[in-house]
Amino acid sequence: MSIRKTPDDSRCVMSEVVLPNDTNSHGTIFGGRLMSLMDKCAAISATRHSEILCVTVAVDSVEFTSPVYLGEVVMLESWVNRVFNTSLEVEISVEAENILKKKRRQCNRAFFTFVAVNARGKPVPVPPLHPETDLEKERYEKAALRREMRLYMKGRLPLENTTHLKDDLIAEISRKDLR
Ligand SMILES: CC(C)(COP(=O)(O)OP(=O)(O)OC[C@H]1O[C@@H](n2cnc3c(N)ncnc32)[C@H](O)[C@@H]1OP(=O)(O)O)[C@@H](O)C(=O)NCCC(=O)NCCS
Repeated sequence: MSIRKTPDDSRCVMSEVVLPNDTNSHGTIFGGRLMSLMDKCAAISATRHSEILCVTVAVDSVEFTSPVYLGEVVMLESWVNRVFNTSLEVEISVEAENILKKKRRQCNRAFFTFVAVNARGKPVPVPPLHPETDLEKERYEKAALRREMRLYMKGRLPLENTTHLKDDLIAEISRKDLR
């Protein structure tokens, strides 16, 4: 990698019109179709940052908050929040646009974890990310806690080996008077 990369360098913006083939019998987009677009957009961000082939290993916090109707446009935007060792977290935000009514609304948001792999599919280290703005720094910090949460939930990280998660849980428990 030649330059010091920020989250903005990995930003990917995609738009896609919802056609009949993309919809269910209610005339709204299939969740799986939207997930596929989200995975594609997020993968571009992961690869744009790492400049190495990346595979999706986990997706969390997916929430379909508003249906997207036939003829509307889905607008996806993704960026890297944090690099760990061989993995990285990409955040994605999805909006739906009704062009004729000039209206936009948030319809999905999620966090994708990718792993950079070599030609044999083995994980390889990802170059560091340099958050610059206050928002990028906040996302960077929160990504560490989310990583511990997902690895803990998958049984890949014991609670005693976590830093942020353990501290947050202890702080939360101490706030409550359980006696
Ligand atoms: C991704 C893959 C190579 C990881 O293999 P693995 O044997 O689990 O590798 P490791 O245990 O060394 O973990 C590699 C990284 O993945 C992370 N990881 C593994 N499982 C994870 C999960 N469920 N959630 C978040 N991160 C995870 C590890 O924390 C590690 O990250 P780090 O190096 O930054 O600390 C392997 O699981 C795989 O090939 N999966 C299929 C990927 C795929 O086909 N995706 C869909 C199509 S693109």
